[in-house]
Amino acid sequence: MIASPFLNSPIKICCIGAGYVGGPTMAMIAKQCPDIQVHVVDLNQARIDQWNSDVLPVYEPGLDDVVREARGRNLTFSSRVETAIRESNIIFIAVNTPTKSFGIGAGRAANLEFIEKCARQIAECSTGHKIVVEKSTLPVRTAEAVKRILNSSAKDATFDVLSNPEFLAEGTAVQDLLQPDRVLIGGESSEAVERLAQVYGRWIPREKILTTNLWSSELSKLTANAFLAQRVSSINAISALCEATGADVDEVARAIGTDSRIGPKFLKSSVGFGGSCFQKDILNLVYLCEHFGLREVAQYWEQVVIMNDYQKRRFSERIVRTMFHTVSDKKIAIWGFAFKKDTNDTRESPAIHICRDLLEERARLVVYDPQVPEKQIRSELEACFQDSNGRLSETHKKLIETNVSVVKDVYVSAQEAHAIAVLTEWDEFKTIDCGRVYEEMRRPAFVFDGRNVLDRKAWLDRGFEVHSIGRPGVS
Ligand code: UDX
Ligand code: ADP
Repeated sequence: MIASPFLNSPIKICCIGAGYVGGPTMAMIAKQCPDIQVHVVDLNQARIDQWNSDVLPVYEPGLDDVVREARGRNLTFSSRVETAIRESNIIFIAVNTPTKSFGIGAGRAANLEFIEKCARQIAECSTGHKIVVEKSTLPVRTAEAVKRILNSSAKDATFDVLSNPEFLAEGTAVQDLLQPDRVLIGGESSEAVERLAQVYGRWIPREKILTTNLWSSELSKLTANAFLAQRVSSINAISALCEATGADVDEVARAIGTDSRIGPKFLKSSVGFGGSCFQKDILNLVYLCEHFGLREVAQYWEQVVIMNDYQKRRFSERIVRTMFHTVSDKKIAIWGFAFKKDTNDTRESPAIHICRDLLEERARLVVYDPQVPEKQIRSELEACFQDSNGRLSETHKKLIETNVSVVKDVYVSAQEAHAIAVLTEWDEFKTIDCGRVYEEMRRPAFVFDGRNVLDRKAWLDRGFEVHSIGRPGVS
């Protein structure tokens, strides 16, 4: 252990960005380290108000208890960004880094505008020494830019910049934070790395805290997400072949997953991966490779996203083709809108693409999701019909208004429906009374299981025509 007064002074943490990453991560640090003050700030006052209320902005199993334990004790949520920066000595940056929608690198590169604004604000308000921690997923060498901004704009402060990417997955965030596979800290100053390692070391075994150089840490996060997404795209590619040949993708996944070199995780074939990270991070990786002249490497990774788009499109086309080549004016119950179960997050959800395709075919959609509010569903659908200037045509606006309804009861969604499309693997869908659903539906009663969660045999026995991912359709 390095003996240093800097290492021994009390830690005070600030986190800029109270989203899906910043909120849960800071709540866990505060819960596990009652003596450390943790102040989470965000420009979005409505979001802060929600963090201070009984209904948190992020739906995450177990998170309510974590927040309740620490909030008001050593966990604060506010919009006082400057104060929080001033009062802390470790500052996490957990702001969003969406894909750029304009200019150079549009559609691929990460938009680093929010990161840069944070760095400038930190430089502006800081005095003394601060450790600035990149929590958001960033392109390799962003820390270089952050360092330059901090050092060139600071008045009376010095900085260490660390990369500490967050590997939590939504829906299991609390467990992932409590017992992570690893914590990764990249940095140049061993003192600063140790200081942050001490925070995590309160509840995470030291051998799980990996330290690397800055660039390895930044690149590891992009690489981890690219590898995970690649596995999903790989099994989804095989699902297309299964449908054509009569093999069953879940059986294939089980057979290959028992090979200890492959392993069983992330082999669940689906309607496509979603979420705020996978697509964004791969496109980012592709952009970086192109930037460094690595054309073949860029093309290799881009194929993961191309396959995912194909999987989503293939699913909607299968629905239309199966339903006698037209879904116009037919009622389709959409089960699940979140990008995966146990989250209210809809960013890049495959459901958005499937709904858009079906609406273009003039289907009538009745959406049910246990956690996603109606307003969010409508705004996602509006956004997906917008043109590159962000304009929504009157035709599309009207289409969404007239052809989409959102209900709070899964059985109501199926009333008079011609088909059901399961787009999120919510557990409650596994125990649905398919007899009751069947009675309410039109005939033939089609079900398209985009997550392979339904008890296929029970639904078939009940009279449904069942179309699962990676299996030929059966009635
Ligand atoms: C991911 C990474 O797992 C996490 O480490 C990182 O910090 C952020 O990105 P997340 O997007 O929250 O986490 O969810 P994840 O569980 O990875 O699922 C991503 C998408 O892949 C979801 O749409 C999910 O439904 C899909 N998926 C996942 C499959 O279709 N099949 C699988 O076998 C696994
Ligand atoms: P993630 O999934 O990475 O956590 P989110 O979009 O859920 O992303 O959260 C990022 C949060 O960061 C948003 O609530 C946004 O308002 C906030 N944010 C972005 N820029 C700033 C900034 N300069 N200062 C404070 N908060 C910011």
